[in-house]
Amino acid sequence: MDYVDRLENVTVLGAGGKMGSGILLLTAMEMANLSLMPENKHRKFVLNAIDVSDSALLSLMDFLQAQVVKAAEKKTVQLRQMYKDRKDLIENGDIIKQYVFDVIKLVRCSTRLEQSYDSSLIFEAILENPDLKVKILSQIKEKSSKTPWFFTNTSSIPIHELDENVKLDGRIVGFHFYNPPAVQKLVELISGSNTQEDLVQFALQYAKNLRKIIVHSNDVAGFIGNGHFMRDGLYGISEVERLSEQVGFAEAVYMINKVSQDYLIRPMGIFQLIDYVGIDVCQFIMSVMNSRLQSENIHSPLLDKLNEKDVKGGQFGDGSQKDGILKYEKGKPVGVYSVDKGEYIPISEFQEKCDAKLGALPKAALPWKAVIGNPDKKTILENHFAELNEMDNLGAKLAVEYGKRSKEIALKLVADKVARTEEDVNTVLLTGFYHAYGPINEYFI
Ligand SMILES: NC(=O)c1ccc[n+]([C@@H]2O[C@H](COP(=O)([O-])OP(=O)(O)OC[C@H]3O[C@@H](n4cnc5c(N)ncnc54)[C@H](O)[C@@H]3O)[C@@H](O)[C@H]2O)c1
Repeated sequence: MDYVDRLENVTVLGAGGKMGSGILLLTAMEMANLSLMPENKHRKFVLNAIDVSDSALLSLMDFLQAQVVKAAEKKTVQLRQMYKDRKDLIENGDIIKQYVFDVIKLVRCSTRLEQSYDSSLIFEAILENPDLKVKILSQIKEKSSKTPWFFTNTSSIPIHELDENVKLDGRIVGFHFYNPPAVQKLVELISGSNTQEDLVQFALQYAKNLRKIIVHSNDVAGFIGNGHFMRDGLYGISEVERLSEQVGFAEAVYMINKVSQDYLIRPMGIFQLIDYVGIDVCQFIMSVMNSRLQSENIHSPLLDKLNEKDVKGGQFGDGSQKDGILKYEKGKPVGVYSVDKGEYIPISEFQEKCDAKLGALPKAALPWKAVIGNPDKKTILENHFAELNEMDNLGAKLAVEYGKRSKEIALKLVADKVARTEEDVNTVLLTGFYHAYGPINEYFI
């Protein structure tokens, strides 16, 4: 079976979810591009969008329509080439309309798993629950009329474990898109001990066609991205616990969030990132890692308490941020959740006092937004961190320790052979988390 054969009948499981909808969008466009090639005119391409939630599938179609229009508007030159034989398509608007039709017509939504049984390729993006994933994949494997390949979007579950439990004989690979899949360039590719080589080659071709950057991660729970993020988050939480004794919990959350954003020039503070990913999702990932990496304690009682109180973060359907550890107004943190009081404390009540305790930022400090695309980024970062290392206020000291810990986590991922190289860890943080610099750097010694 060649590349096009494999993509003739595809299923996305969990298609109504955050990741599944993006994977569906990218796959639908790749399949439509193939279907429009003259040599593929005789083929019948089908993309099954399967989800247990009917309402999620309904919103999926709106999402798909809007996103394909957006994507088409950006590639009218390429589309003109693809439709060069269609003399009836004159205006850009005609071509865009036709392309949207050609993408959407491939998609069949269903809440029934049976719909997937004729697929040669299955993308799995259901909840991060190992038992559920094994159950669903086993059912497809048993009932399938084909011998499908499985791409799992798991954030943390070792691929060899899914392979063994579903008895797939190497017909599975970890293809870990970042959120949102249509925007984020990075994909972590994880082969299990047994993953078939032709499946890996296919995955590389598919990633290339989608213009993704591939980083190979070894098959260790959490892989590179979450291997770094979860430990980085736990460090932030431990710093809050330490600092709380002096300044109070809400104040400490605010301060560590600020240190990890402004002093370290990151796109968001560590607690914003935890909220963005979802507190429940982080807890799931940690529990998978914790049960498989027994020499470490990858668990946070704070996240347990927040989950128990139904404080979960994540996003609304329109992409806006739900309240989590932090409360948001127009995307900006305005409060911190007090577990004891069961309510949000406005940041305005303690911001001035906490900012004074942290002390000034380096004089050369710029926000992440002004640094990330700046042609002088290297010099800006060098000046910022040289100054930060010399300062002796609380904010600078906390930031330097944070940067050192982040570097230590990254180096350990290489030492533990989760990542093949230091550069791979840096690439994951630069492209998957949009950091302005890799964690393995000369700034923190
Ligand atoms: N959210 C992220 O930032 C992120 C990033 C990378 C990878 N991931 C991984 O992607 C996967 C999906 O995560 P998500 O954030 O998109 O979750 P989500 O909750 O947004 O989506 C999951 C979808 O699966 C559906 N579903 C649940 N049970 C199902 C079943 N039995 N059959 C079919 N559909 C079912 C749900 O209705 C939901 O629409 C997880 O493995 C997660 O770890 C998530």
